[in-house]
Order: sequence, then structure tokens, then C-alpha cells
Amino acid sequence: MSIKIENLSYSYRQHAGEKVDALKNVSCFIAAGDFVGIMGHTGCGKTTLIQLMAGLRSPISGRIYINGEDINAKSYDRNSLRQTVGVMFQDPEYQLFATTVEKDVAFGLKYSGLSPQEVTARVQWALATMGFDFEKVRFQSPLALSGGEKRRVAIAGVIATKPQILIFDEPIAGLDPYGRENFLQFVSQMNKAGTTIIMVSHNMEALAEYTKHLLVLDKGRLIDSGPTREVFARLKQRKNGSLGQTEAQRIATLLAEKDLVLSSAVVTYDDLLSALKQELAGGALR
Ligand SMILES: Nc1ncnc2c1ncn2[C@@H]1O[C@H](COP(=O)(O)OP(=O)(O)O)[C@@H](O)[C@H]1O
Ligand SMILES: [Mg+2]
Repeated sequence: MSIKIENLSYSYRQHAGEKVDALKNVSCFIAAGDFVGIMGHTGCGKTTLIQLMAGLRSPISGRIYINGEDINAKSYDRNSLRQTVGVMFQDPEYQLFATTVEKDVAFGLKYSGLSPQEVTARVQWALATMGFDFEKVRFQSPLALSGGEKRRVAIAGVIATKPQILIFDEPIAGLDPYGRENFLQFVSQMNKAGTTIIMVSHNMEALAEYTKHLLVLDKGRLIDSGPTREVFARLKQRKNGSLGQTEAQRIATLLAEKDLVLSSAVVTYDDLLSALKQELAGGALR
């Protein structure tokens, strides 16, 4: 399923009555089956943008179309949106609230129209997908689980509705390298199976390795978007350069300062490796 955003703006009113413009005239298109990363400094509007995409806030102005349908139109069926778009917010482990793991994962299926047996089967599938033994955890309290397990239960709750669009807000922050890799592999598989993925992250390596397109927000404005490699290459050219660079890009810059200018554009570690190999091969021939 595709998402089209047109001239989207959103402001918050803060306690003193002050207005904060969180999003300013943002337009973009996310194609069905894409894997899109959203990056930008804290406070630039990333969470606000995905809350709007998920229909949890209404825009001040502008429109959001999911598969061509305006999700803020009066006639739009909000229940269908809940089944179409799955969102996992920051620190999802604090959002578990049901008395058992099974009930927690089943919560989003309330309005799905599935029979109780189908709901159980779906919950079993979602928990198994996230690496749990259903019979072992179904009656456990989510609060008794470890941090990593809680996060996996939260993801199970999001995928239980089999949404066609999955949105993750900083899903790998706080995970250890193993948990991070596991999560990214899992999301990558969901994407290969056809799910549209949108992932907010501060992890440049994860964005560079896994996403196909990037949206870059700065103080509520969309300042760049496009194929991931192209966006990273452009961000490197920016004067302040602070928005986002991969470690491989930094190393390439350091090498260039030492007069080892690599011929091909380096964004990921793999690029760096092949560029160095090329350089070595060239050196051997000379
Ligand atoms: N509930 C809220 N009330 C008032 N201001 C908010 C609220 N949520 C976010 N903001 C403000 O809106 C801006 C964008 O926030 P947010 O979308 O959370 O950014 P990000 O996720 O990129 O860190 C920030 O200036 C933030 O302080
Ligand atoms: Mg945020």
C-alpha cells in the first residue's frame, strides 16, 4: 500500500499558549513495498509525522492518502486503517498493559472481525514469528518479561493484524547488537514479503544498509528525500554535515584527507571494502 502526503502541516499548542510548528508543508510519496527511513535531529517532527500517517492525529492542513484514499475524510473507515497500518512507538515495552501476553497481542484484533479461534491462531503466529513458544508465554504477565522480550511482544502485537504498512519509531534504540541485527533481519523479511516499511532511526548504518529511500526532516521541514545512497551522498556535501553520515563515509573522508581518495561513492561498509580492494588492485598493477 502506498502513502501520499501533500502539504502536511501540524502545530502543537504548548501550555503557555505558544504554538510549536512541528511539521511545515511536508509532501512526499511512499510506494507500496518500499522500505523508507526517516531521519533527523530530535524534535524535528519524526514522531508527529508517523502519528499523522497512522491517523492518530489530524493535520492542521494538508492531506494524507493511503492507497489513494484520504484518511482524514469523513467517509474514511478508521477501523480499516487500524488493520492496514501497524505502528510501534518509541519504548514500546512501556505500552504493554494487559494481564497476559496473549491478551496483549490480541488487543489490536478486537475490531478485525476474526472469530475467537482465528484470533488465537493469529496471536500464536505472531508470537511464534517473534521467537516465542506460545504455550509457554501465553498466560504470563508481560511485566514479568525481560526488556528485550517485552519489545518482541510489542512487535507481535503490531504484526498480529498483518498490516500492509508497518511503521517503527526508533525500534532499535537501546537494543544490543544482536537484538538490533535480529530485528533488522526480521523487518527486511517482512519487506521482502511485500509489507511497506517505514522506520525512524538515528542509526545511520541501519538506515544505509536496510532502507531503499530516505526522508530527511529538519525543524519540521522535509529537506531531502530520495534513494538512500543518493541522500547520504548529498548529506555529506552539506556544509554543517551534522545531519547524518555513516561511519564508512567518515572513514572515506579521513582517507581522502590523507590523500587516499577512493574512486567510488562510499556509503556502507561494503562499499568501503570494495573501494579499498579496487584501490589495492590498482596499486598492485601500477
Ligand atoms: N504533545 C506535544 N505537545 C507539545 N509539543 C510537542 C508535543 N509532541 C511534540 N512536540 C514538539 O513538536 C516538535 C516535534 O516533535 P516530535 O515529532 O516528537 O519530534 P521527533 O520525533 O523528531 O523527536 C518538537 O518541537 C516537540 O517539542
Ligand atoms: Mg520521536
